[in-house]
Amino acid sequence: MPTELPASALYSHPSLGRLWRKVHISCSPFLHRTELQRLYRLPSARIRKHFGRRSYSLLALGCADGTKESLLLKKLPKPTSLLALDTNLSLARRAARRLPAFQKSAYRADLTSSLSLQFLSSRLSPHPTLITLFGVLPNLKPLPLLRSIRRFMRKDDLLLFSANLTPGQSAHTGALRILPQYDNRPTRNWLEAAILRYRPKLPKGHLEFGVFPDPKQKTLARIEARWMNNHLPIVIFSSRRPTRLQVESWIQASGLRRLKRWIEPRGEEGVWLVQSIIRPSPFPRDPKRKKR
Ligand SMILES: C[S@@+](CC[C@H](N)C(=O)[O-])C[C@H]1O[C@@H](n2cnc3c(N)ncnc32)[C@H](O)[C@@H]1O
Repeated sequence: MPTELPASALYSHPSLGRLWRKVHISCSPFLHRTELQRLYRLPSARIRKHFGRRSYSLLALGCADGTKESLLLKKLPKPTSLLALDTNLSLARRAARRLPAFQKSAYRADLTSSLSLQFLSSRLSPHPTLITLFGVLPNLKPLPLLRSIRRFMRKDDLLLFSANLTPGQSAHTGALRILPQYDNRPTRNWLEAAILRYRPKLPKGHLEFGVFPDPKQKTLARIEARWMNNHLPIVIFSSRRPTRLQVESWIQASGLRRLKRWIEPRGEEGVWLVQSIIRPSPFPRDPKRKKR
């Protein structure tokens, strides 16, 4: 029996994608707060400055139906090409229909698989690429994901990602405050449908929501939905709630450099624009320098 379901098990079937959209429409603060929508329009000026008059491509990772990317693109020139990628192909296709680009394609891919990422890097166009990663870092392990994206980033590519932050000073108390955004009927319906679809079948049980330390980084708060049964609890859903500093440390540890960040007024969500650190080629050794 797994101790934790992969995030893709909650999204990959079309019916689960539809249930997730219902959750998004009824519970996500993004659709109800204009400051959060603004967060996804603001970076366009900095991105325009970076690309100048050059053509660019858009690689939208874990894009779902592309709502956030469409806000960003409103004030950007039309990309030459668009690759919309999600574990749920019907959502990725919806994003490809919605977003403007001269050439479009949609793929199903697993961001946790190195094969999928290798495939991705082979599909990148020769133009500089803007990579978006919205709402995905909370669900997947942040360091391995950022590192594997960085590996295929070229000198002029940009990565714009969002993180759900813990509001306030204490990670645990901050996350407790926003627990009702997760522990509600639409979210339970979605997760219970994913549990029914999962194979091997999970034992009988019930869902409990809470805030726990991330198993890989104890000071990081994770909102979890656990399936309580007669054996060990199974983590069905988790959403990491880092502080700004924790996000900055992931950026550094992944070989990325922050160009700019935007945080919404309540401090619950932030967007970071980063670039890969290009390792300079080693200086030629000075033969006169003494060995230490
Ligand atoms: C919380 S939703 C965010 C969707 C959208 N980007 C947004 O911010 O509204 C997470 C998205 O990541 C996708 N996803 C989850 N696990 C994935 C994986 N392993 N590989 C690719 N996509 C994944 C889901 O299908 C879903 O569309």
